[in-house]
Amino acid sequence: MHSSYHNNSGTTCHLESESITLTFGAEIATILRPGLIIFLNGNLGAGKTTLARGILRGLGHEGKVKSPTYNLVELYKISRLYFYHFDFYRFTDPIEWEEAGFREYFNESSICLVEWPEKAEKLLPIADIRISFTIIETGRKIEIQAGTEVGRQCLKDWQVKRNP
Ligand SMILES: Nc1ncnc2c1ncn2[C@@H]1O[C@H](COP(=O)(O)OP(=O)(O)OP(=O)(O)O)[C@@H](O)[C@H]1O
Ligand SMILES: [Mg+2]
Repeated sequence: MHSSYHNNSGTTCHLESESITLTFGAEIATILRPGLIIFLNGNLGAGKTTLARGILRGLGHEGKVKSPTYNLVELYKISRLYFYHFDFYRFTDPIEWEEAGFREYFNESSICLVEWPEKAEKLLPIADIRISFTIIETGRKIEIQAGTEVGRQCLKDWQVKRNP
């Protein structure tokens, strides 16, 4: 499995392959709760959508997980949970944000996972958890940080699950 180390600014993990990214996503899925906002930062091809796929499969979604690059958002309804997967790479017009009603998607009963948050960061709420990807020779390096108390609690749950 992927290795990791923890310090004050967050946790760093090494994901050696696509399948390990998917497994890691399934692990993250177990600590998620309604209302969470997760940002995924990293270059084109860094593995953000792959991680989203792992999380959604972990939550029990059995169908396809396509990149929301063109539609900006894909909605998954998993039993009673609304899971919004955003990709703001092509987002340029703040008016579009209002017209699409994105603000309402960020609510207590939904989970929002956001690729390319930096393209809409002024409009977005604060992220509970931020995962930053770096492409390295041997796969991907990710850094996981909490931005809120709820995020900190989730990451604590995750640490406890990994090292009981
Ligand atoms: N840990 C990993 N090690 C090596 N390759 C990986 C790893 N995770 C994902 N990949 C591969 O890297 C590519 C990542 O594509 P993906 O669509 O997930 O990137 P993305 O960050 O969503 O890009 P974009 O910004 O264009 O949306 C895929 O081809 C996938 O197979
Ligand atoms: Mg993507």
